[in-house]
Amino acid sequence: MKKRGPGFNLDKLCEFGMLLNRLEKNDDALNLIVSYVSKISGVKKVALTLFDTESDNLELKSSQGYIKDEIELFPTEKEIIKKIARDGNFIINDNKEGVISFPLYVANEAIGFLHITAGGRKKKFSKKKLKLIALLASHIAPSLGMLLTKEKSQTAYIEMIETLARAIDAKDPYTKGHSDRVSHYASDIARELNLSETRVSEIRHMALLHDIGKIGVKEGILSKEGRLSFAEFDAVKMHPLIGERIISPVKLFKNSVPILLYHHEHFDGTGYLEGLKGSDIPLGARILTVADAYDAMISERPYRNAIDKDIALGELQKEAGQHFDPDVVKIFIKIMNSK
Ligand SMILES: [Fe+2]
Repeated sequence: MKKRGPGFNLDKLCEFGMLLNRLEKNDDALNLIVSYVSKISGVKKVALTLFDTESDNLELKSSQGYIKDEIELFPTEKEIIKKIARDGNFIINDNKEGVISFPLYVANEAIGFLHITAGGRKKKFSKKKLKLIALLASHIAPSLGMLLTKEKSQTAYIEMIETLARAIDAKDPYTKGHSDRVSHYASDIARELNLSETRVSEIRHMALLHDIGKIGVKEGILSKEGRLSFAEFDAVKMHPLIGERIISPVKLFKNSVPILLYHHEHFDGTGYLEGLKGSDIPLGARILTVADAYDAMISERPYRNAIDKDIALGELQKEAGQHFDPDVVKIFIKIMNSK
């Protein structure tokens, strides 16, 4: 007599368990979940919808095997879905088109649903298969919940830091709006250089936060009208390092902290903190330096008047290769001349 197997792919199930244990936020994570559910269970049509944390609407995050019209059949009436989910049913929606939805519970709250649909002539799933999908859903939910919580706390931290950066800018009439403008210039340059959206947003965040370390520098020094003493300048020079300490606990900034840390390095190696030179200075920092210097020049400061935009661009050009990366200056001038 033929021995019957477990009815699902055990190897894939083990791989899936490992994937869930080290789930990281990236665009592929949710697609991988859907693809594994399909591989393990043999179900061709699988989809994942999650509640959006802000709007509380259910959003389709990933699907496999469905055609567009079928996707529109997924339950979206959140109140009904939540009510049924609260009642504790495993299968909350077996409508006539055959979409079966499994709630993904985290601490008694449905964060979303795993949907399956039987295809072809076979319109129904066996009880065994439904139990398997329910089991998978119960394993997916906590991992996804952790991921979403992590994301939420990182977003909250970024928002808090951005608010703080803006508050620092707003406190001083001379630097009001400076970080926002610098972040716009820097992301324009990054886009013109065809950097990936991830890198553009890293540069945008770091530009917004670049002077956050000034919170640790005495106010009297920052607003001093005359020339700074050596000791005072040394204190100012600490702000990239202080900034790095403030933002480095955020895992999301792990790769982008050097952009902030080295935004006062000069292309010829005469800047601070470490006197880095040329391409040893991270590209993001070289971009930020140009954007920062331009906005500083065209803004009023306690120790000098604002200068004309064309003169400021001329100054960047003059310092290209010394203070600034000549390629970045070239791109920035091209952007500003096309506006
Ligand atoms: Fe700075």
